[in-house]
Amino acid sequence: MGWNERMRQKYELDRARETDVDILAIESSCDETAAAVVRNGKKLLSSVVSSQMTTHQRYGGVVPEVASRAHVEEITRVIEQALREADRTLDSLQAIAVTYAPGLIGALFVGVTAAKSLAQASGLPLVGVHHLAGHMYAAAISDEIEPPFTALIVSGGHTELLHVLRHGDMVRMGRTRDDAAGEAFDKVARALGLGYPGGPELERMAASGDPDYISFPRAKLEVGSYDFSFSGLKSAVMLHIDKEKRAGREPRKEDIASSFQRAVTDILVTKAMQCVEQTREDTLVLAGGVAANGALREALRQACATKGVRLAVPPLWLCTDNAAMIGAAAYHRYQMGKLDDLYLTARADLSIDAW
Ligand code: KG4
Ligand code: ZN
Repeated sequence: MGWNERMRQKYELDRARETDVDILAIESSCDETAAAVVRNGKKLLSSVVSSQMTTHQRYGGVVPEVASRAHVEEITRVIEQALREADRTLDSLQAIAVTYAPGLIGALFVGVTAAKSLAQASGLPLVGVHHLAGHMYAAAISDEIEPPFTALIVSGGHTELLHVLRHGDMVRMGRTRDDAAGEAFDKVARALGLGYPGGPELERMAASGDPDYISFPRAKLEVGSYDFSFSGLKSAVMLHIDKEKRAGREPRKEDIASSFQRAVTDILVTKAMQCVEQTREDTLVLAGGVAANGALREALRQACATKGVRLAVPPLWLCTDNAAMIGAAAYHRYQMGKLDDLYLTARADLSIDAW
């Protein structure tokens, strides 16, 4: 019997028996090598994240080739640790899930190759997961998120507003036309002399600054558009720092960081709430690395409370890249029978509405 038939048989049998669905999930799209075992899309049996942060800090950002190599070195150990901590062997699982897009292509290949090898060897079904869908389902671990709902996903590479109609069926309402929100945080942090990754460091610096020091520009796009643009804001901050230096003044870093954070938060909250008015859904999901930002969480919490909208947001440790969220998203694809075969391949770019 070939792998396809074997895994189909296994899938049909497990579905008929209504067994708990334990999924081994793998994530390697950027600079974290991660594996987790997740039960029924909700319960974490284990979650291991090996960060390459200190490696990339030396270069001030993620170096793709260095990331790929580090994934190769770490992936087996991380997967073994996730299985061990969950007290599971492959033959006691229901499926293997992996992030296959979008991300750094070399980095993604490491995870995809590992997942396919394990699926082939074990006869387990394979489930490819879109990284942003993963971020969104991080909220399903700590909260109930039953579609339909609106979602704001803010990460280092993406800023997206989505209308999720059913699991696996969503309409993209808006996206960034230039920099992602996290990218803007990272670039401004760098201009302020902070290390990588910039977002958390900038938030720390902003805590002692005045958010009303300067009103940085909020890009005005066409009326009715839910798209974002952060490059003008980023340039305005850079120009201000430059102007201060040329005038022989020391830039007021804390105040600049705080005013920048206020501007980003304003832009995200305003657009998200306009989008919620359009979709008329009563739940808003906030996810992605930038969702770890306290000012953003608080501003969106207040805006949602005023409008009577429920805000679902993952705990901090599930906002940045991890494999638990991939396992949570994979559960819904598994339930829908959306399985992949061994031709699954990594994709650097892929729109989330194709997930
Ligand atoms: O989702 P993520 O871990 O990786 C991607 O899929 O991109 O997001 C990483 C991004 C980085 O740009 C990082 O600076 C930003 O999320 N980030 C933050 C915070 N924590 C992480 N931005 C602002 N405030 C934070 N506390
Ligand atoms: Zn991410």
